[in-house]
Amino acid sequence: MPVFFRKIISPSLSPNTESDDVWEAVRAFLKPRSWQRGSAIDEIEHWFKDYYDASAAVSFDSGRSALYAILEAFGIGLGDDVLVQAFTCVAVPNSIRWAGATPVYVDIDKRFNIDPKDLEKKITKQSKAIIVQHTFGIPAAMDAILTIARKHNLIVIEDCAHSLGATYHNRTVGSLGDAAFFSFGRDKVLSSVWGGMAIISQKSPPKADQPMAEKVKSPPAGEAGQKLRQIQEKLPYPSRIWIVQQLFHPIAFAVILPLYNLIIGKVILECLKRLGLLSKPVNDQELRGEKPLFMPRRYPNALARLLMRQLVKLKRYTIKRRRTVAYYQEVFQSRNEIIMPKSIPGGVYLRFPILVQNQEEVMMRAKRAGILLGNWYTSVIDPVQVNRENVGYIAGSCPKAEIYARHIINLPTLISEDEARRVVAMV
Ligand SMILES: Cc1ncc(COP(=O)(O)O)c(C=O)c1O
Repeated sequence: MPVFFRKIISPSLSPNTESDDVWEAVRAFLKPRSWQRGSAIDEIEHWFKDYYDASAAVSFDSGRSALYAILEAFGIGLGDDVLVQAFTCVAVPNSIRWAGATPVYVDIDKRFNIDPKDLEKKITKQSKAIIVQHTFGIPAAMDAILTIARKHNLIVIEDCAHSLGATYHNRTVGSLGDAAFFSFGRDKVLSSVWGGMAIISQKSPPKADQPMAEKVKSPPAGEAGQKLRQIQEKLPYPSRIWIVQQLFHPIAFAVILPLYNLIIGKVILECLKRLGLLSKPVNDQELRGEKPLFMPRRYPNALARLLMRQLVKLKRYTIKRRRTVAYYQEVFQSRNEIIMPKSIPGGVYLRFPILVQNQEEVMMRAKRAGILLGNWYTSVIDPVQVNRENVGYIAGSCPKAEIYARHIINLPTLISEDEARRVVAMV
């Protein structure tokens, strides 16, 4: 079949929206009285509290707001350093800076996650917390990280923006540290276009065998959970116009995606973007390292409704993503020019990252074949337009992350077997 008659394959253009999600958006749109407040928010929070056996689960408008609230709840702010991996989204260091703290960048390991060896080298007296990102849904080396955190008395916050449903040695990723946050952005494991959740573990933050004066002055888990809730309750709901804009997103993409390879789909997308009818995942202020005035906010009920519909699909999506990855691994293992992460049991593989010699050429070839490959993290602080200096990244400080950024491509995983064969043929 000629390329232009085929549906576009893309891990970033609303990859997990199905027809029932579109209808749910229409139904939610028709109930304007429950766009902001409503029972779906409580149901989502309960689901997370139960699934992660957490002491608290509190929703926000995004993962970045959830992280900001966690830092505030643990009293992390001015004068404190937060260790975070390079090879991340600008939303993460920005949230650290919103809280008044300083991001300290750590290099990555072969799983694209924080490297425990570099982590230990970068710990100082100012270090208060580590953010552990499970990049692409591949679990980080938690045992080594938790040992280091305990030794240095640091709070561990798991960044589960990519890893809802993942496990690490049969334990649930997201329940291994002191707190965790999740994103329900348009291209995440499950999506409501925007949204985020913060959870606090049952256990208190680890205390090393150190004199009292040197210990982190962080509240026990129960107290942190209460603070998180107080922070949320003081925040406003997003405006009704903003909520309508997000409800429009799955509806618009239901039209755009089948037509994308025909020029008309691209034209519609471009027009909607220019008319400001579709929201951007990261706005211009954030690219400059500034805080948008309207954030953080609460999670609105209309988007919680979209997420409830997606939650029942978690298992099915995870099975499908893992099956695609098993196929990629099988066919790429004999290709010496392709480097891929070792198979990690328990990963959910939001995308499958591989390193190729000629990144740009592969991306162009894919485009011609009707496949839009993902570009996380072709810049160490993503997206490429970010002013890295403004967010405190010192060029050359994380050399491995910089090399990986020049060679990475992200393959889609939530696709059919036939589509996976097309991706492999293109690579
Ligand atoms: C690794 C990672 N952490 C955090 C975030 C922030 O999530 P959100 O977009 O919901 O604020 C993102 C966003 O893409 C991300 O990729």
